[in-house]
Amino acid sequence: MKVLVTGGTGYIGSHTVVELQHKGFDVVIADNLVNSYQETVDRIAKITGKLPIFEHIDLTEKHRVDQLFVKYGDIQHIIHFAALKAVGESVQQPLKYYYNNINSLVNILEAMQKYEVKNLVFSSSCTVYGQSEKLPVTETSPIKQATSPYGHTKQICEEIITNTIINSHFNAVLLRYFNPVGAHPSAIIGEFPIGEPNNLAPCITQTAIGKRPELKVFGNDYNTPDGTAIRDYIHVVDLAQSHVAALERFISEKNQQQLETYNIGTGKGFSVLEIIRSFEKVSGVKLKYKIVDRRPGDIEQIWADTTLANKKLKWKAQRDIDEMMLSAWKWEQTLNNTK
Ligand code: NAD
Ligand code: WQD
Repeated sequence: MKVLVTGGTGYIGSHTVVELQHKGFDVVIADNLVNSYQETVDRIAKITGKLPIFEHIDLTEKHRVDQLFVKYGDIQHIIHFAALKAVGESVQQPLKYYYNNINSLVNILEAMQKYEVKNLVFSSSCTVYGQSEKLPVTETSPIKQATSPYGHTKQICEEIITNTIINSHFNAVLLRYFNPVGAHPSAIIGEFPIGEPNNLAPCITQTAIGKRPELKVFGNDYNTPDGTAIRDYIHVVDLAQSHVAALERFISEKNQQQLETYNIGTGKGFSVLEIIRSFEKVSGVKLKYKIVDRRPGDIEQIWADTTLANKKLKWKAQRDIDEMMLSAWKWEQTLNNTK
């Protein structure tokens, strides 16, 4: 079974390629390396013993996407990760985000129609919910006005898929990821930070290893038990496995609707201070941090109701917060040794 994984050298994509190969899928990666390195392909092979096919393609170039499907006529499934994802940059350069994320998807959908590809898994995000009044959020929780052009592209892409599928032959699954953290336990793959990361886990590990003087904790005056913001952090390997589960549902023809949407999280929320405590425990490193003002645009708290994914995808996140932090720490140490 051949799977096209767009954005497959990226953070979540590379972990998913590993899980797909473990399950015997043949993988073609298409990536323009705007936020990843080709070396990741070899790293994947180091873990799985099998080199995935790699195609250096910008998916906004329609003719290149077309050529890809001509070359690999037996692609049956697509997992579409490729997108730009830096929230702050999307506020500064919104058109770059609209152009890249929307055109890539449109080209993929056109190719799916033209070459009769049956199944699509799309990387969406919990960002589509904004600050929900009711927690945990379910798949039917209201979609709030996006707080960034990045978040808006996810909402638009979900709508494009919803509208396209009506008169099409293909099936799609929208996976709304909560907060992916950690790395493969081998510490052979993980997230290569290109530029300054803003996400909590790399900020913690970079502080611990000495790349940053201290961690800034954005606000301790939220309406939460310890005052810091709460998120549903999910181990990237668990997240990767949810994509395999989505493909298995397609293959066994269990999908009840042409379009299904799932929350992919653990169903538990952790505060920033709880994450810091977990990191300190598993790494043995005392973290230097200080409380500063809230970060503009941040929501107070969110975590997922994952009942639907647990039931329908027969998938459940297995790895706890300590395992997430330990794998993130091991990966930071690998990065430090390879530079
Ligand atoms: P990433 O940046 O590590 O991976 C994305 C990959 O897509 C990169 O390798 C990049 O080079 C590639 N890419 C971007 N535009 C492309 C284009 N036009 N043509 C070809 N390749 C292109 O990001 P990630 O964290 O692995 O995220 C994967 C997906 O999951 C994205 O769609 C992202 O929006 C979504 N997502 C991520 C998070 C998160 O916190 N990491 C949370 C929710 C959703
Ligand atoms: C988590 C918590 C911060 C850094 C972002 C995107 C979202 C989605 C996931 C793609 C927050 C706090 C962070 C730091 C801190 N991506 N924090 N000090 O903001 O939930 O979501 O990534 O779809 O769209 O917006 O994740 O990891 O940035 O922050 O105190 O140095 O950690 O305030 O409460 P976030 P994050």
